[in-house]
Amino acid sequence: MSLDHDPSDLLPVVDDYRSNQCFVHPQTCRWSCGNQCAHPAPNESENEYFGAVAQRYVSRRRLLGFGALAAGMLVVGKTTVVGAETARAQSAGSGSGLNFTPVKLDGSDRIIVPPGYKSEILIRWGDPLFLDPGTGFEFGKQTAAQQERQFGYNCDFLGFIPLAKDRALLIANHEYTNPELMFPGYDPENPTKEQVDYELAAHGVSVVHIERHKTRGWRYTLGAWHNRRLTGTTPMRLTGPAAGHPWMRTSADPAGYTVLGTLNNCSAGITPWGTVLTCEENFNQYFANNDQVADAAKKAAHKRYGLPGGASERKWERFHKRFDLAQEPNEAFRFGWVVEFDPHDPGSLPRKHTALGRFKHEATSTVIAKDGRAVVYMGDDERFDYVYKFVSDGKYNPNDRQANFRLLESGTLYVAKFKDDGTGEWIPLIAGQGKLTAANGFATQGDVCIKTRLAADLVGATKMDRPEDIEVNPANGYVYAVMTNNSQRGTSGRPGTDAANPRAENRHGHIIEMMPAGGDHAALKFQWRFLMLCGDPAKDKGTYFGGFDQSLVSPISSPDNITFDRRGNLWIATDGQTSTFKKNDGVFAVPVAGPERGYNRQFLSGVPGGECASLVFSDTDDTLFVSIQHPGEGSTLEKLSSNFPDGKEPRPTVIFVMKEDGGVIGS
Ligand code: FEO
Ligand code: CA
Ligand code: CA
Repeated sequence: MSLDHDPSDLLPVVDDYRSNQCFVHPQTCRWSCGNQCAHPAPNESENEYFGAVAQRYVSRRRLLGFGALAAGMLVVGKTTVVGAETARAQSAGSGSGLNFTPVKLDGSDRIIVPPGYKSEILIRWGDPLFLDPGTGFEFGKQTAAQQERQFGYNCDFLGFIPLAKDRALLIANHEYTNPELMFPGYDPENPTKEQVDYELAAHGVSVVHIERHKTRGWRYTLGAWHNRRLTGTTPMRLTGPAAGHPWMRTSADPAGYTVLGTLNNCSAGITPWGTVLTCEENFNQYFANNDQVADAAKKAAHKRYGLPGGASERKWERFHKRFDLAQEPNEAFRFGWVVEFDPHDPGSLPRKHTALGRFKHEATSTVIAKDGRAVVYMGDDERFDYVYKFVSDGKYNPNDRQANFRLLESGTLYVAKFKDDGTGEWIPLIAGQGKLTAANGFATQGDVCIKTRLAADLVGATKMDRPEDIEVNPANGYVYAVMTNNSQRGTSGRPGTDAANPRAENRHGHIIEMMPAGGDHAALKFQWRFLMLCGDPAKDKGTYFGGFDQSLVSPISSPDNITFDRRGNLWIATDGQTSTFKKNDGVFAVPVAGPERGYNRQFLSGVPGGECASLVFSDTDDTLFVSIQHPGEGSTLEKLSSNFPDGKEPRPTVIFVMKEDGGVIGS
C-alpha cells in the first residue's frame, strides 16, 4: 500500500493527453461554456493560484507525515470531528460497505454497470410531462410550444424528493442545448427564430413525479399534478440587495425586479426546507456585443464574466433584443444567480436570490449551522475563480416551512482563502469594508452582489481550478469541493509552470476535503486537505488517492458532480474523460474514511460524447439516478458517435440503476 508521494512526483509530468489547445470537444466548448477555454481566463487579478498553495501545503504535510492524516481522524481547532456514522462504521470494522466489481473505462455506446446490476431509462428529452394532445416527441418536427410541455434538453442536476413510499419528485436541470444534434440541417451561421425559441423552451428545469413499481422499477407519471417546466422565459422575481438596483433595470422591466427565465442551469441543491436552488452557470454565452456598451464600468463587469465583445455563438440576439448588450446593457446582470423555487407548488414564483452573489454558479449545498443559520456552499466554475459560502441572517425554523422561504434574501457572502499550512478562512464580501469601497465601485451591497467576482478579486481569494460541485457529507460534516480541471496553467502565453504549481496543465482535476472549525459551518476558519488528485496512476505520477494503493484504484478524470450514500461514501460523476482518456465519462465510488479511504472504483460507464452530469440516490439507497447529458456531442446527425438511448438520434436521458436483487447500491 503506497501511502505517500515523493515530492518530485508533484512536478509536472508529460502524459498522453498534453496539448496547448483546448482539450474538449469543440461543440462542448461552443454550447456548454461559450468557448471559455478559447479565451483568456477572465480573472486578471493578482490573487494567488491554488496550485501554488497546494504545492507548499503538500510538501509541508509530507514533512509532518501526511500518512498520519490519511487515517481518517482529523482535528479542527481542539475538537475532533469524525462523524458519528463514520466512526460507528470504523469501530464495527465494516469499512465502506462497498462491494461491487468495478467496471472499466469503455468507449462503446452502451451504459455499463457492475455484474448484478441493471440500468433502465426513466425519462428523456422530449418526453411529454402533461396530458395535452400533440405533445408527443417526433425528432425534427418539434415546436417551442411542444417543448414547453416536454422534458427539456441536456439534463444535468438530479434531485430526489420523497413524497411517500414509492413516490417522489425528480428535479432535473436542463443546462444547455446542442442545436446541431436537435435540428436536422442546422446552420450555425443562420439559426431561425423557431429554432431559437425552441431552445429557450428546452432550457430550464423539470419537476417530474415518479413512482416505483414492484417489477418494473421507476416510471415517471405523465400528467401528474406536480409536473412542471421552468424555461428560458418563465417569469421570476429578484430578491435581496441587488433587486431594483439601477443596473438591474431594463426597458422591459424598468423597476428591476422581474426577469424572464433562467439559463444554463447546471447543478443545484435541495434545501433542508425542501425547496430547490438551481444554479445559473455559463450565462455569458447567451449575450452579444459588449464592445458596444458605452458605460465603462458595465463593460468591465461584463468582461470579467466573459461576455463576448461581438456576436454570440448562438446568435439569439438577432431575434430577442434583450440578449443584445448594445440595446439592453443590463439584461445580462439579471443572470448568473441562484434561483429558489418550491417543487411542491407548481404555481409558485421562482426567485433569484441576489444575496448569494453573481457568478457562474455550479451548485449549492445547504446546511444548518450550530446556531440555526442557513449556510450555502457554492463554486464559481471557471478557471482561476473562487469558492464561496453564504450565511443567512435569519435562523432555520424546522416547524414553519414557509418561514424559511425568506432565509436566503439576506445574509453574508464569503469567499475562500486557502493557506499553505492547510488552514483557510472565509473572507466577508461587505460593501464599505476593506477594499470594497465606493471608490472601487462598491458603494452598496447591491454592487457587491452584481459584481461578486470583482469584489472577490480585491480581497485576496484563492484562484481555483474550476470549482464544480461542493457538498457537505452528512456522515462526517466535512465539505467536499470538486475542482474539475484547469488545462491552461503553464501553457504558452499564460502564467508559467514551476515547481510551486503541482498540477500545471491540470487536466484531471482534484477533490479537496474541508473541515469547518469546531464542526460549525458558520465558522470563519477551516482546515483542508486533498482527498484525491485525479488521473490515471499508471500514466501520471502526480495522482493521489487519499493514501490508498494506487495500483488498485480505477483511473478517473474531471470529477464534476458528487453525492453521498448513507454510509458517507463519496460518489462522483465525471465530465471530460472523453477528451482526457479517450473513453466515456462515468460514475465512481470512493470511501472517505477507514482503511479504504481513497479506494476509487468505477461503478458505471456512460456513452460516447455524453457526460455523466449528475447523480442522486433514492431515499433508501436502492436506486441510483444518473443524468446522461449530451450523448453524441462532438459528432453530427450525419455521422453520430452515439445513438443512445433508443438506437436513433441521441437524446439526453435520465437513467436509473438498481441491483437485480433489489439491495442497496454498491453493497
Ligand atoms: Fe455545467 Fe460546471 O458544469
Ligand atoms: Ca457540472
Ligand atoms: Ca459539467
